[in-house]
Amino acid sequence: MTVDMKDIVALCKRRGFIFPASDIYGGINGFWDFGPLGVELKNNLRDLWWKAMVITPPIGPDGTPVEIVGLDSSIIQNPKAWVASGHVGGFSDPMVDCRETKKRYRQDHLVVCWIGGQHGKDMPGIAFHEDEEEQEIEKRLKKLGYKEYYKKQPLTEVPVENYMYIIGPDAKEPGTLTEPKAFNLMFESHAGPIQSEENKVYLRPETAQGIFLNYKNVLDSSRVRVPFGVAQIGKAFRNEVNPRNFIFRSREFEQMEMEWFCHPDEVKMWRDFWFEQRKNFWTSVGLRSDNIRFRQHGQDELSHYAKAGLGTADIEYRFPFTAPDFGELEGIAHRCDFDLTAHQEHSGVKLEYMDPVDTSKRFMPHVIEPAAGLSRGVLALICEAYTIDKERPSGVYLNFHPALAPKKAAILPLTAKEEHVPLATKLYLELREEFPVDLDIKQNIGKRYARQDEVGTPYCFTIDNDTIQDKTVTVRDRNTMKQERISMDKVAAYLREKMKTADAVRKAA
Ligand code: GAP
Repeated sequence: MTVDMKDIVALCKRRGFIFPASDIYGGINGFWDFGPLGVELKNNLRDLWWKAMVITPPIGPDGTPVEIVGLDSSIIQNPKAWVASGHVGGFSDPMVDCRETKKRYRQDHLVVCWIGGQHGKDMPGIAFHEDEEEQEIEKRLKKLGYKEYYKKQPLTEVPVENYMYIIGPDAKEPGTLTEPKAFNLMFESHAGPIQSEENKVYLRPETAQGIFLNYKNVLDSSRVRVPFGVAQIGKAFRNEVNPRNFIFRSREFEQMEMEWFCHPDEVKMWRDFWFEQRKNFWTSVGLRSDNIRFRQHGQDELSHYAKAGLGTADIEYRFPFTAPDFGELEGIAHRCDFDLTAHQEHSGVKLEYMDPVDTSKRFMPHVIEPAAGLSRGVLALICEAYTIDKERPSGVYLNFHPALAPKKAAILPLTAKEEHVPLATKLYLELREEFPVDLDIKQNIGKRYARQDEVGTPYCFTIDNDTIQDKTVTVRDRNTMKQERISMDKVAAYLREKMKTADAVRKAA
């Protein structure tokens, strides 16, 4: 059954996963807030990534555990760092403006549907966002008086002299799109009381640079030796021109990045190693492997730091709004020695690595970078978990892996009666020492099961009249809806066992 993104967005708001930022003021384009359950889900994904990278990093190709240390660097750095990294000069997208609607679009996100082989007033090209659905295209063509189109062409491939025949995505008249102009994506601010050019600073557009800036500090202060990695999770900011698809492309988001420093001769081995590790990570947190694929970047889409070397390959996920196609979830780039060399040149500080065995040998390490979106990962988890089931009252449940589920269990007194509530509260107080659990008292039991299904709670424990007699409770399994009775004093052990089994399956994935 196809899933409608509108229903996912509505559930996220209704149940407290994700809200529009500044909702009471009508929101602000490209910014989102994580609600009580969203922040738990995000933290769970964040912690699993940190564990997989920093706490228990994998065993390397030679059979010994790889070394990765953590970092939490400033969002604002010396602006010279962004000049060196190429972001001040180059971190821009070609943009086209529409003179009719005053809207601005990323050139590479538009496609043109040409009405005929010859372009002209009666044979215009009609521009759409690249991910526009065919039925929406048909609707708009009809509105503009056309039945069908002859061919679709990315706007990047249209010569600028033919822009005069194009009707912009929200326009009525042809010829209103301007020539593409570069637009820098970094947010600017000023450090200190004077808003002068000298005080200009940038909000980081990637967490990665904080790692390169601290490469020497980490080497000098810890025992790591090449090859090793530095991992960081944190906010990044990009003044995206068209924030789209819920939290998929926003202006403030979180990244989980790891820079792997290795000898230039070993890049292929490490690139292949990290490909495998990262794909396994995403399946281990519950993404179905047939919803994931690798895609090697074409030469024309490579970032400035990945133009030489092995390039970049993305791990892509089949989001409902890209299906049957896929959208980027994580990029794994060979950044060569671009960043360390650039920072060495701009700062004047030597960043070459001295081989500890043969100190006459020096080299600039190369970098393999698995760079994932934490916010985008949360979206993938929600989309994957969203399961339509007309048989149950909620009509839908979130099939989160128990390790990711915001609440592991809910404790439900059957009624708000005096006998049920104290027993439920006792069980709740016991379980919450070990697991994130919910005590849910209000409304009829059906409605409460529906609520727990919609937030993806794997187990519900219900206290009823029998509990008073024989000290047993009903356990309801979220996925199967099957119920069984277990002894109340075995509930913690039951939940512990279930979580352990689920985690073993996750690790084996
Ligand atoms: N350090 C390399 C780097 O930043 P990237 O492909 O631009 O590479 C890495 O970003 C990941 O960050 C992406 O795969 C995506 O998951 C996430 N990401 C990038 N831009 C984003 C945006 N505007 N909104 C949400 N997530 C974004």
